[in-house]
Amino acid sequence: MSESVLETGRRAFLGDLRLTIQLVEGIAEVEIAWHVARTRWREGIATEAATAVRDHAFGDLGLRRLIALVRPDNDASQGVARKLGMEVERTAVFHDLPHLVFLDAAERLEPEEPFGDDAAGDLERR
Ligand SMILES: CC(C)(COP(=O)(O)OP(=O)(O)OC[C@H]1O[C@@H](n2cnc3c(N)ncnc32)[C@H](O)[C@@H]1OP(=O)(O)O)[C@@H](O)C(=O)NCCC(=O)NCCS
Repeated sequence: MSESVLETGRRAFLGDLRLTIQLVEGIAEVEIAWHVARTRWREGIATEAATAVRDHAFGDLGLRRLIALVRPDNDASQGVARKLGMEVERTAVFHDLPHLVFLDAAERLEPEEPFGDDAAGDLERR
């Protein structure tokens, strides 16, 4: 899946967001990747667009895991991943280069069952 990021109203092209299946050290993962036009960096565009794509992936697409593959020296991309709430799960060699593997998991965003399964069962039985 690849989405262009367009500016509301003006339809100006601001960048793109992609969901891609990647084989990372033998493990198939869905990667989220982002690019923003240089003239519009540091306006929160990547974070806003990636949040929408992440919500779509965990909602409509039903994915449970999303990773971002980020080079250790790419501070901007690491910043986007951290602002999304992703955390470094591991490091991996990808395309012959070391990468940080940031992870987001669907369960992190799901509401917790307030009383646990037993309590829900008690209420149904009453
Ligand atoms: C990475 C990229 C998409 C970030 O886009 P952006 O719209 O500027 O990102 P945001 O404005 O949402 O920034 C989110 C956070 O990332 C961090 N960040 C962004 N740019 C940064 C920079 N140049 N240096 C350090 N941290 C940076 C900050 O923590 C920022 O939050 P803050 O502004 O509240 O402090 C953009 O720099 C880009 O297209 N880079 C080239 C392509 C690329 O490297 N893609 C990723 C491949 S893994």
